Amino acid sequence: MQREEILRWLRTDDPARQADGWRRADEVRRAHVGDAVHVRGLVEWSNHCRRACLYCGIRAERADLARYRLTDDEVLACARRAVGLGYGSLVLQAGEDPALTRARVAAVVRRIKRETPLAVTLSLGERDDADTAAWREAGADRYLLRFETSDRALYARLHPAWGAAPSDRPAQLRRLRAQGYEIGGGMMVGLPGQTFETLADDLLLCRALDLDMIGVGPYLPDPHTPLGVDPTAFSAPGADAPKADARTTLTVLALARLLCPDANLPSTTALGVVDPDTGRADGLASGANVVMPNLTPAGVRALYAIYPAKASWRETAEAADATLAALLAASGRTMGHGPGGRGGGSD
Ligand code: 5AD
Repeated sequence: MQREEILRWLRTDDPARQADGWRRADEVRRAHVGDAVHVRGLVEWSNHCRRACLYCGIRAERADLARYRLTDDEVLACARRAVGLGYGSLVLQAGEDPALTRARVAAVVRRIKRETPLAVTLSLGERDDADTAAWREAGADRYLLRFETSDRALYARLHPAWGAAPSDRPAQLRRLRAQGYEIGGGMMVGLPGQTFETLADDLLLCRALDLDMIGVGPYLPDPHTPLGVDPTAFSAPGADAPKADARTTLTVLALARLLCPDANLPSTTALGVVDPDTGRADGLASGANVVMPNLTPAGVRALYAIYPAKASWRETAEAADATLAALLAASGRTMGHGPGGRGGGSD
């Protein structure tokens, strides 16, 4: 698919044409990765973050948010719960937290790999190559690092530099791949300053990087962040601006499936926030084949406040699992078993 065709699809507001795109993605999803929905248990390890990304609710400058960090034993308990619920993989996510040292993360990964059959995905931000190499060595299978936007000027405005290291996430994703990880990237839909052209380029970048996983969610303005307070402070509002709504997100998701037919695509929590009733089910019907139920202990879950009104804040892992079972049944899909790597397994 060429850029012009992607742009035509993104720009259309004809409901029939939009639905046609979602349906085509659903067919391509079925043909390439089947009906199994792979379940990744999400563990939000720490909400400490050294970065100051202008849209993110756990940015370092936010003073009113209590900070937490799970102990290693708490993370292991989440892993065992994932096994108990029949999940095949675990995502360990955190802000960019220097207290999650190379040695500490490596030790936790080693324990999970020794004590469970889970595939382990890390999502710990932009860390040194020596860190990610050590974690790979310890047994981590995948690394998630959304590039957020392919527009370098917009990226630079939204991501103040940290230290001297330049931030180039596409380059880092390529290095992670060379270290032997399956790699996941992705972007937000409807970021202030984004255009349809940006989104088309985001999609083409997913293809150029040959991503194994692509996370796509709507941008959710957070009043505790500079961008949430004043979206126009950083970019002039464009006439050609995609909406941060469910329909646009579904179209981007569908296009990701058409461009990257074998990739693992989650129906994201953020999609469930903009459309609490049917967002996640619609995602599964528009190209997605992955869901990521939250296994973070309920007591701290609300503190992992990357955006407001995150769905199921108060749900226990068991309640979330019941919701998940209902979602799969209603969607006519089955739960995948095993690690669910790219192109991995027929179930
Ligand atoms: N709205 C939507 N998504 C957000 N993320 C961070 N802040 C927001 C927000 N305000 C996403 C980013 C990040 C992922 C963990 O959460 O894409 O990579």
